[in-house]
Amino acid sequence: MDLPEGIEYREFDGEERLATRGEPVYGEPTAEGWRAWDARRSKLGAMYERGMEPGLQNGDRVLYLGAANGTTASHVADVARVVYAVEFAARPMRDLVDVAGTRDALVPLLKDARKPASYGHVVEADLDVLVQDVATRGQARVACANRRFLADDGRLAAVVKARSEDTVRDPEAVFEDALDHLRNEYRVLETKRLDPFHADHLAVVAEPR
Ligand SMILES: C[S@@+](CC[C@H](N)C(=O)[O-])C[C@H]1O[C@@H](n2cnc3c(N)ncnc32)[C@H](O)[C@@H]1O
Repeated sequence: MDLPEGIEYREFDGEERLATRGEPVYGEPTAEGWRAWDARRSKLGAMYERGMEPGLQNGDRVLYLGAANGTTASHVADVARVVYAVEFAARPMRDLVDVAGTRDALVPLLKDARKPASYGHVVEADLDVLVQDVATRGQARVACANRRFLADDGRLAAVVKARSEDTVRDPEAVFEDALDHLRNEYRVLETKRLDPFHADHLAVVAEPR
């Protein structure tokens, strides 16, 4: 797999690690302007480590759902031209706003990803990439509701956390239901479990139908 421009494996303390170039955010190792991208703290990072192609390219415009305190959104903002970062919890949003202060590309939005109409006046249309990591019940529904922002040749990079849908059900059954739901709006191109980085998570790369 070819990594996009701006994402590379670099050496940190003698170890080759996934990295982007930018200000450090969460105490990650840095070297020569690059910062290690910790796949154990980032599902998108884990997608790259697992050899997936989430579709992010240098200079892209991205909608990121479930930005939390900006760990992953900051790496995306090191590569992208603009990242609309939606998060609905006030506490992580404070950190996200601080991270946005270090990156012009990052636009924090205190919004509910289940209600895309509430940020439709801010977020551009025809975006290149939609990242979905809300980790609550209805993850596929959220990805479908936000398809409206994605260009027809854009990419969805979504993660389904089985335990967020159902704490007891077999994860495989949860993933099948989520994929069925996604297929209402997307053609699924690639799926992979994110073990050992994240247990019981399915990563999905898809394109709009
Ligand atoms: C697993 S964390 C995201 C981690 C982050 N993507 C990263 O890699 O750094 C999930 C986040 O989604 C947020 N979230 C859950 N439901 C949401 C919703 N409906 N709208 C916006 N954010 C939501 C939670 O508050 C939480 O911060």
